[in-house]
Amino acid sequence: MESARITVFDTTLRDGEQSPGCSMNVQEKLRMAHQLDRLGVDVIEAGFPIASEGDFEAVQAIAAVVHRPIIAGLARACKADIERAWQALHRASHPRIHVFLATSDIHLKYKLRISREQCLEQARDAVRLAKSLCEDVEFSPEDATRTDPAFLCQVLEAVIEAGATTLNIPDTVGYTVPEEFGALIRKIKQQVRGIERATISVHCHNDLGLAVANTMAALAGGATQVECTINGIGERAGNASLEEIAMAMRVRPDRYSYETALISEQLYPSSQLLSEITGVSVQPNKAIIGRNAFAHEAGIHQDGVLKNPLTYEIMTPQSVGVPDSTLVLGKHSGRHALRLRCEQLGYEFDRRELDDIYRDFVVLADKIKHVRDHHLLELIEQQRDCRKRIPPAAEKPIPLAVAATAVAGKSAGYIPKQVSLMENPEAISLPRNLVADHHGEQEDYLWGV
Ligand code: KIV
Ligand code: ZN
Repeated sequence: MESARITVFDTTLRDGEQSPGCSMNVQEKLRMAHQLDRLGVDVIEAGFPIASEGDFEAVQAIAAVVHRPIIAGLARACKADIERAWQALHRASHPRIHVFLATSDIHLKYKLRISREQCLEQARDAVRLAKSLCEDVEFSPEDATRTDPAFLCQVLEAVIEAGATTLNIPDTVGYTVPEEFGALIRKIKQQVRGIERATISVHCHNDLGLAVANTMAALAGGATQVECTINGIGERAGNASLEEIAMAMRVRPDRYSYETALISEQLYPSSQLLSEITGVSVQPNKAIIGRNAFAHEAGIHQDGVLKNPLTYEIMTPQSVGVPDSTLVLGKHSGRHALRLRCEQLGYEFDRRELDDIYRDFVVLADKIKHVRDHHLLELIEQQRDCRKRIPPAAEKPIPLAVAATAVAGKSAGYIPKQVSLMENPEAISLPRNLVADHHGEQEDYLWGV
C-alpha cells in the first residue's frame, strides 16, 4: 500500500515564538527560516504580522527570500489582521493566509462575547475576505477540542463554502487524548460537507504531554497536515515536537506509514540553531535531540552498545544529525566503558590493574556524579606503578581541547571535591572502529559490567 504524503507545517516562528524567552528578531527568524527550508518542511508559519512591526518585517523578509515552502502568516478573523497579513505575504512565491477564530462556548462567552451565530458569520466573512486576496487560505477554529462537535462541523462547512483550502483542528489547550482526537478527525472527515475539497490539519499543544500522540492519532483518523515546532516550543507546555513526529514515522513505518519531505539528518542542526538563537536549551532527556538521547551511562547498557548499538538504540544518532553516541562515565558505568576511555586516553591495563582503577572510580563517581577525563587521569596516576603506557589510539585521537583540560587539571593527588553540574559534560563518543574491534566475549559479560 502506498504511504500517504503528510504536509509538515512548521510554526516554530509563530506559535513557538510565543513561548516565554523564545522571541526572535528579524535576522534570527530569517536564519531559522533558511534552516527550516533545509530541513524540508512544507509550510513555514513565519509570524503574526499585525502583532508587531518586527513580526511584520520578519514575515515580509522571509516571504521575499525563502521560495520553496509555502509561507503562512497568521490573522484573527477581522479585516485589519487579514489585510496586514496579506501586505506582509503578497511577494511570497507561495503565500498562505491563516485565519483563526475561537468556536468553543467558553471562548465565545468569556473571551469574544459573541453568540454562535455571530461566530459563524464572522468566520465566513473573514475567510471570504482572505480568499479575495490569496488563493491559499487556512482556517482554524480555536479551542476546537472543547467546541460542541455539531457546531464545529457547521463552522467548518461554512468556511469551506467561503473558500478555505486547509481546515486546521487545534487542540488549543492540550486537553484532548489520542482516542478522542482520532475519533473527532474521523467524524469531521465523514460528516463535514465539502471536506474532500480541503486538507485536514491538526495542531496539538502539550499540556498533558500528549501532543505528539494526539497528532499521530489524528493522522490515523484522516488528517494529512501536521502543525509542529522544533524542540516542541510553543505556548505554555509547547506544541507537538517536529523531530518526534518525524522520527516516529521513520522508525515505525509499520505503524505510521506516512511520507514527508523532511531530511531527518537536519533535525539536530535545526534544534541546535534554535537553542543558539533563543538561548533556551532543551531538557537533556528530550527525545531525539536532547543531550542524553544517545548517551549511555549504565554499565549494562554501555556493554550492550559497545557490542552492538542495536541493543539499546532504535535509531542511529547520525540519522538525526547527531555526530555520535556517547558513553558517560558515572557511578552506573562498567569496566568496559572505563577500559575504552582509558585506551582512548592512551593507557592500557590488564584485568587486575583495571579492577583497581575501577574500584577507585566507583568511589569517586559516587561523590562527583560525572567522572571527567582529568579525574580519570588522576586515578591512573595513583595506579602509576602498575601502569603501562601505550601510544594514544591512532584511529581516534583525543580532541586537543579535552587533552589540554586533562593535563591542566592534573596535579599529584588532586581529586576535585565538587564538580558543577552546569559544566559542559565531556563524554566518550563511541568510536565505531573500536566498537567493531571490541571482543565482547561472554566471559567479559560475566566479569561484570
Ligand atoms: O493553539 C491554537 O489554537 C493556535 C491557533 C492560532 C491555530 O495556535
Ligand atoms: Zn497553538
